Amino acid sequence: GGDFAQKVDYVFKVVLVGDSAVGKSQLLARFARNEFSLESKATIGVEFQTKTLIIDHKIVKAQIWDTAGQERYRAVTSAYYRGAVGAMLVYDMTKRQSFDHMSRWLEELRAHADKNIVIMLIGNKCDLGTLRAVPTEDAQEFAERENLYFMETSALQATNVESAFMTVLSELY
Ligand code: GTP
Ligand code: MG
Repeated sequence: GGDFAQKVDYVFKVVLVGDSAVGKSQLLARFARNEFSLESKATIGVEFQTKTLIIDHKIVKAQIWDTAGQERYRAVTSAYYRGAVGAMLVYDMTKRQSFDHMSRWLEELRAHADKNIVIMLIGNKCDLGTLRAVPTEDAQEFAERENLYFMETSALQATNVESAFMTVLSELY
């Protein structure tokens, strides 16, 4: 026993994008399974995980897609973005270059995804605050200019991870 039919009201596809090693896969592991690994391997191709949530009395199935930040491991771009209604644009706050690349990732996202896609800019690894290379204000400014939500997170410490995904998902519903 124990089986019960679950009626899903909405399925929302959300994609993760950003340079290699910024923590996309670990943000997903934290959100979907409340797990974290320091020995995370680079993603090859595309993976996804789902998490079912109740938002405003509706059953919402979040289907979160994760791909390689490394060009040579990336799968077909158009298929990855197809049908996505939300996106997490992730940089590593201790790596300036990963933030400087955000405009390129955003360009690719806007070229392939739905024009109404909801986008969250994420400065991950805030547990490494002493090594910070991207001031909060720089990211805030970029987010405002580009009309993105913005949060600083730590997949390691589970800081703002739930909050970042929930902000995007609530906006979709
Ligand atoms: P690709 O799959 O190559 O695109 O990389 P990715 O963006 O998926 O990075 P991944 O999640 O594999 O994490 C890369 C490294 O950063 C791993 O060693 C993680 O353990 C580490 N990491 C991820 N998130 C955090 C965080 O919030 N804090 C710290 N300190 N390390 C993190
Ligand atoms: Mg990965």
